[in-house]
Amino acid sequence: MTTEGRFADTVVLVTGGASGIGRAVVERAAREGAKVAIIDKNGEGAIRLAEALQKKGHGAVGLAGDITDADAIANAVEDAVRALGDIGVLVNNAGGTSAQTFDDMDPAHWRADVELNLNGAYFVTRAAVPSMLRRGGGAIVNVATVNGLTSISEPAYSAAKAGLIQFTRQLAVEYGPRGIRANTVIPGSIRTPIWDHRLKDRPNLFDVLQRWYPVGRIGVPDDIAAAVLFLSSAEAGFINGASLVVDGGLMAGLPQMTHDIHEAG
Ligand SMILES: NC(=O)c1ccc[n+]([C@@H]2O[C@H](COP(=O)([O-])OP(=O)(O)OC[C@H]3O[C@@H](n4cnc5c(N)ncnc54)[C@H](O)[C@@H]3O)[C@@H](O)[C@H]2O)c1
Repeated sequence: MTTEGRFADTVVLVTGGASGIGRAVVERAAREGAKVAIIDKNGEGAIRLAEALQKKGHGAVGLAGDITDADAIANAVEDAVRALGDIGVLVNNAGGTSAQTFDDMDPAHWRADVELNLNGAYFVTRAAVPSMLRRGGGAIVNVATVNGLTSISEPAYSAAKAGLIQFTRQLAVEYGPRGIRANTVIPGSIRTPIWDHRLKDRPNLFDVLQRWYPVGRIGVPDDIAAAVLFLSSAEAGFINGASLVVDGGLMAGLPQMTHDIHEAG
């Protein structure tokens, strides 16, 4: 299926767009005709990526912005609109985690993870919605995680992402009548720099992890970008308030339990 030109003349704003999944969304959206606004705490990375896209003839702007700072992010969204026009697609992608277990965690970790993975998406959405309404509607896609569905580790991150899934449903119901659809993409493990600190100590981590994935591999950023942009596109016009799990089947069952029932013992 060709998706060429699917986002022609559409402004797609991506938070955390300088790296990993966000970057894949930005690059794919640009290839499909979008004008892309990249907002990232790593302002230099955002600007560098925008310049590279401009050189290829795409409309793009890169802006420094920390999504946990409501005022700063409102200014960054305003700058993006001034540069490219009203927003058609908002991808709340920036996120991350600071503590592995409840034991590791103190209130500062809890606050930081909730601030980044839940409050930040609210701040950006709040800033972007007036522009989307001015344009006559659009689509919001929030990037959660399988940790928001089941306990894996990282309690504050997981609780915040579960909150993000519910926040998305609220948006879908409140703004659907005004032309804005909102959906969540729920990734499993994806090869991005977010894993670098773990891979440093355990270079074979992905080999171990992929055994959990029924498709036999962990994901790549473009697996998620494809889902995000499908939900953002006109083809998904009747999909609103949905959660699309993109995890190679990880959440579909408990193969280790099945193995134990049939083989172990
Ligand atoms: N990689 C995975 O395995 C995986 C799995 C499930 C969900 N996710 C989610 O996908 C999203 C993207 O993750 P990734 O793996 O691409 O990570 P990444 O570390 O490669 O990229 C994250 C980007 O977000 C930016 N960022 C971080 N904090 C920010 C802030 N406060 N304001 C603005 N920008 C900020 C970073 O500078 C970076 O460019 C996150 O929400 C993450 O929780 C990732």
